[in-house]
Amino acid sequence: MQNKPLILAHRGFSGKYPENTMLSFEKAYEYGADGVELDVQLSKDGIPMIIHDSAVDRTTNGSGKISDLSLKEIRFLNAAATFTQFGKQTIPTLEEYFEWVQNKRFITNIELKTYEDEYEGIEQKVIQLINQYDMAEKIVLSSFNYQTIARVKTLAPRLKCGFLTIDYQTLEQAKEFIPDLLIEQLTLNVPSRLIDYAEALGVEYLHPNYRSFSPDTAKQITDRGLGINIWTVNEESDMQQLLTDNVNSIITNYPDRLKSVMNKEKA
Ligand code: G3P
Ligand code: MG
Repeated sequence: MQNKPLILAHRGFSGKYPENTMLSFEKAYEYGADGVELDVQLSKDGIPMIIHDSAVDRTTNGSGKISDLSLKEIRFLNAAATFTQFGKQTIPTLEEYFEWVQNKRFITNIELKTYEDEYEGIEQKVIQLINQYDMAEKIVLSSFNYQTIARVKTLAPRLKCGFLTIDYQTLEQAKEFIPDLLIEQLTLNVPSRLIDYAEALGVEYLHPNYRSFSPDTAKQITDRGLGINIWTVNEESDMQQLLTDNVNSIITNYPDRLKSVMNKEKA
C-alpha cells in the first residue's frame, strides 16, 4: 500500500503569502498542511532567525547581511515589503515560531542555512530551543551542509535529520557557496554513497530536489531504510507523479494545491 505523503508548506504557504513569516505559517496550518519547512540563520547577536537568504534585501525593505544586523535592527524590517496587501510582517525568531507551534500537531522541518556562513554554534542554539519547547518529536533538521548535520547528530543523536540534495541546474548556481561538498552526492548522482554516509551518521532522511529524482532513486533510498522528503514541488503533474512514489513528505509552496491533488487521487 502506498503511504500518503505529508504536506509540508515550503517557507510556510509561500505561494500566496510572504515567505518565512508567521502569516505564512499560520496560513499553512489553516489550509491543512501537516507542517512547514523554514530556514534558519543567526543574527549578529546570535539569535536564530527565520529567513531564507543570508541578506535581508530580497524579502524586506532593508539591506545588509543577517549576520551584520542585531535582533533589534532586524525587527524594524518589513518582511512583507514586496506585498502590499498584508501589512507589516516581521522576520520571526525561531523562538517566536516555537511559542506559536508548540501545542499544535504540526511538523517543522528546520533547514539550517549554513552553506554561505557557517554560523558557529547554530546547531547548539537550535537544539537548546527545541529542548526548551519540548519539540523534538515534531522536528526534522536538514541542511545542504552535511557537517552541520554531523554536528547535530553528535549533540543530539535522537533528533531526526535529513541531507538535502539538489539538481544540476541549482548546483551550477550554488557551486561557489558549497565548494567542499561532493557534487555527485549533492545531485544524487551516486545515491549509494550518500546513503552510506547517512547510515554512518544515523541520519534518517534524504531531501532530494524533485528534478533529480526518479522511482529508481526512491527505491534505492527506501530499500536502505531511509525516508524521503522531497522539494519543492509546485506543479500538479509533478505532485501526481510523486504520489505514486514512496515519499514521506512533499515540500511545496502550494499546500492547498497538493491537498486538492491528493483528494482527487482518493476519489
Ligand atoms: O528544504 C528544501 C528547500 O527549502 C531547500 O532550498 O533554497 O528553498 O531553502 P531553499
Ligand atoms: Mg529551505
